Amino acid sequence: MSKNLAIRCAALTFVADPFLSDPAKSYHYESDALVVMEHGKITAFGPYESLKDKLPPVCPIKWYKDSLLIPGFIDTHIHYPQTQIIGAYGKQLIDWLNNYTFKAEAQFSDYSYAKKIAEFFIDQTIQAGTTTMMTYCTVHPQSVDAFFEAAQNKKMRAIAGKVLMDRNAPENLLDKSAKASYEESKALIKKWHGKDRLLYAITPRFAPTSTPEQLEMTGSLWAEHPGTYLQSHLNENKGEMEWVKELYPDRKDYIEVYEHYKLMGPKSVYGHAVHMNEHDWERLFHSKTSIAHCPTSNEFLGSGLFDFSAAKMTNRPQRVGLASDIGAGTNLSALVSMNESYKIAQLQGYALSSIHAFYLATRGAAESLELQDKIGSIQVGHEADMLILDLKSTDLINFRLNYAKSIEEVLFVLMTLGDDRATRSVYIAGECVFEKEA
Ligand code: GUN
Ligand code: ZN
Repeated sequence: MSKNLAIRCAALTFVADPFLSDPAKSYHYESDALVVMEHGKITAFGPYESLKDKLPPVCPIKWYKDSLLIPGFIDTHIHYPQTQIIGAYGKQLIDWLNNYTFKAEAQFSDYSYAKKIAEFFIDQTIQAGTTTMMTYCTVHPQSVDAFFEAAQNKKMRAIAGKVLMDRNAPENLLDKSAKASYEESKALIKKWHGKDRLLYAITPRFAPTSTPEQLEMTGSLWAEHPGTYLQSHLNENKGEMEWVKELYPDRKDYIEVYEHYKLMGPKSVYGHAVHMNEHDWERLFHSKTSIAHCPTSNEFLGSGLFDFSAAKMTNRPQRVGLASDIGAGTNLSALVSMNESYKIAQLQGYALSSIHAFYLATRGAAESLELQDKIGSIQVGHEADMLILDLKSTDLINFRLNYAKSIEEVLFVLMTLGDDRATRSVYIAGECVFEKEA
């Protein structure tokens, strides 16, 4: 059981959705805050002066100067088994999958290899300031065990699942049958879903790599296990979308495939949604499906530009969480994903503010995963997952911040110039799991 600890630091958290309310009132900033953590939860948060004499017994105070405490980042779409192929040159989605990804993922039939990568990956993610991730594993059940064991060891809240694929991938990566993949997933749900802070995501990779029979069984599996998640990919690349039309001629479009097999709804999270029309957005909204926005991946694979205005600035605002989508994405740091989101939005005439961007990586991401009552905010009763950002992580940032006139500007400089070097400390369930050397 973790010990009591209080952190003194400047702190910022969201109290509302800046896309739906006045952005200036959507966050709470304390220039000198105290956050008290007991048994892994936040038990007090407020001005240092008013809380300092109300600490529980035996509660040391750790003071971070020149820093900003925020909720740990939440990465809503990531592939831990693609760590080895980040930055693989030159291909778009389908060729990239065939030439690099499937070869890398085949190695996860070996449990000890999977465990080694999972541990390394989780350490890297934490160093980037991320305290919760929703990850794909591979088709091998042992890749799921390896990931959950490593996440459990860090006491992380994490969501993961076994990839389902029974066609259009190399033989050694295919499920033996739709029925076998159903049974294997069911056993993994029983073993992991709800254990400690871990949650299971049923994971059909995307429509092209599943037969209709597999998608049918996947829909049944999800319906039979309320509370589990479902994750997949949607409208990422134009070639992929054409391929879906050929493979599912009876369906009008890509979304209709997932609708038909009952794979959309609350707690479903689809990566990308780059090529969308109004009818597509409406169906996502009405089914309460979430989208993971993967900016560095969409740029790296040349997939296209996510349309923020269409997703958010409407009367059917889409739930969106920020994501790195490693290994098509190129950086684990949510600060870098925010930076790229800003540029992608700018290219389409929309300037994403720092308030909106930090929301998408914290409370907004938690809302997209329906976990906003547990993580994503600095709030009494919440799990104590926190990131302390170093405001002097580089000479340039230190210099530039001398000229920042507001906390919004400080955040904007951090997301434009910052990366994992800005991580000063990370707390998971009230325990320090990373501390940058002084
Ligand atoms: N679509 C299906 N599989 C993948 C994957 O592994 N990465 C990305 N970016 N898109 C996909
Ligand atoms: Zn992906």
